[in-house]
Amino acid sequence: MFTLSKKESRVPPTCLGPASTQGMDSNYPDGLERECSGKPDQKLPELYGVGDPIPTFSSDGSHLSSRGRIIKWFWDSAEEGYRTYHMDEYDEDKNPSGIINLGTSENKLCFDLLSRRLSQSDMLQVKPALLQYPDWRGHLFLREEVARFLSFYCRSPVPLKPENVVVLNGCASLFSALATVLCEAGEAFLIPAPYYGAITQHTCLYGNVRLVSVYLESEVTGLDTRPFQLTVQKLEMALQGAKSEGVKVKGLILISPQNPLGDIYPPEELQEYLEFAKRHELHVVVDEVYMLSVFEESVGYHSVLSLERLPDPQRTHVMWGTSKDFGMSGLRFGTLYTENQDVATAVASLCRYHGLSGLVQYQMAQLLQDRDWIDQVYLLENHARLKAAHAYVSGELKALGVPFLRRGAGFFIWVDLRKYLPKVTFEEEMLLWRRFLDNKVLLTFGKAFQCKEPGWFRLVFSDQAHRLRLGMQRIRQVLKGTSQVAEDPPSCQTQELRGQHT
Ligand SMILES: Cc1ncc(COP(=O)(O)O)c(C=O)c1O
Repeated sequence: MFTLSKKESRVPPTCLGPASTQGMDSNYPDGLERECSGKPDQKLPELYGVGDPIPTFSSDGSHLSSRGRIIKWFWDSAEEGYRTYHMDEYDEDKNPSGIINLGTSENKLCFDLLSRRLSQSDMLQVKPALLQYPDWRGHLFLREEVARFLSFYCRSPVPLKPENVVVLNGCASLFSALATVLCEAGEAFLIPAPYYGAITQHTCLYGNVRLVSVYLESEVTGLDTRPFQLTVQKLEMALQGAKSEGVKVKGLILISPQNPLGDIYPPEELQEYLEFAKRHELHVVVDEVYMLSVFEESVGYHSVLSLERLPDPQRTHVMWGTSKDFGMSGLRFGTLYTENQDVATAVASLCRYHGLSGLVQYQMAQLLQDRDWIDQVYLLENHARLKAAHAYVSGELKALGVPFLRRGAGFFIWVDLRKYLPKVTFEEEMLLWRRFLDNKVLLTFGKAFQCKEPGWFRLVFSDQAHRLRLGMQRIRQVLKGTSQVAEDPPSCQTQELRGQHT
């Protein structure tokens, strides 16, 4: 998605690191790589690209530094689908023909439960300490609560320690902070693709850290037992490929449950990936932000913190937050667990800019310690609602004859729409995405997750029944060619709009 067409080859004179690896998508705008390789005026080959970043990259009148222009470029190129949605949001009463958002990974099923709990009187406490500068790692009362909470829900073999906890305003900030404190500018993390695409920005915008995709395929071959399976062999190949191109890899990012696949790594596989990282002295950042959103009882979830022994505890860093599991992406709460005190301290130092208000810290501690409510009210109901919503959408897809991955975790279904592309290209993927948007339903296309195969889409199902019904009806109209929208293309906007990908 971060590729530019020929005319876009003029880029800000900033070097974010060495050139990309062959056959691997470094996730940088190509132009940036040209700059880094010292050939600023070299013309790019004809690439499929969208948007018109010339104004963005032009220095005239922008008042931005070259870094600022790149940062703005990410915003302009990656968030347009999202912004289009916000200009025309569906509302049952006020805007029934507005856009239904099945693209953003949010859980909109439990607002009633959350608003009741967060409105209770125990949630508001105003003490001097909460209004003063805090310990930047987070107040001790909250870090103690987080350690108890994670010990319990991650089933750690020994109690986790508050001194290994840092709290901040969300996992996006944590990716950014970890990239900055673990890597030099231009160094890289390996990441299995498809992956939650915004990590590209999280690691790049402050840290200038790049991602090396470990491409996974839908076809089950060789040692694979499931589509898009990660293996140590694939990790080894990507690492060697990056090295041979002069890219220094510092770490590996693992997401479990995975976004967008919904996969959960079984403990044996997790152990293998951690051993691989240890062999190569790589940090491992494990993102478990969906760990309590496993709604299928038959699916066993194992946190990395449940392993008897971490191969390399000083290089293993775990993140969790409330955006997904507690449906509170607007509250902004995330936490790091690491035994490495240097890493914890360096991240805490950045929490001067990413810290949480004392009042929110208090609320979070109250929420996380209320195990009765979490277990007997919230999780039971949340899982039942996720399961019902998933059953509805997967039933609809089945009726349409659309293949998809059936998983029991997360808020989304990874859907194979390749048969609807006249040619299996990313241009056609974009055109199909545009037809959905024109028919007022926002999905996210696979390219936004750096999926190697055109034609995959992520469909978020964690929404209220009436919106899901309407969204699925609009999807059906597009797939059956009966939407009100002209099948033939693409207004000029088609080339400009992009899917958002939280
Ligand atoms: C896998 C994953 N990690 C992290 C995040 C960001 O979480 P936060 O809202 O805590 O910044 C997301 C959001 O979509 C996500 O899907």
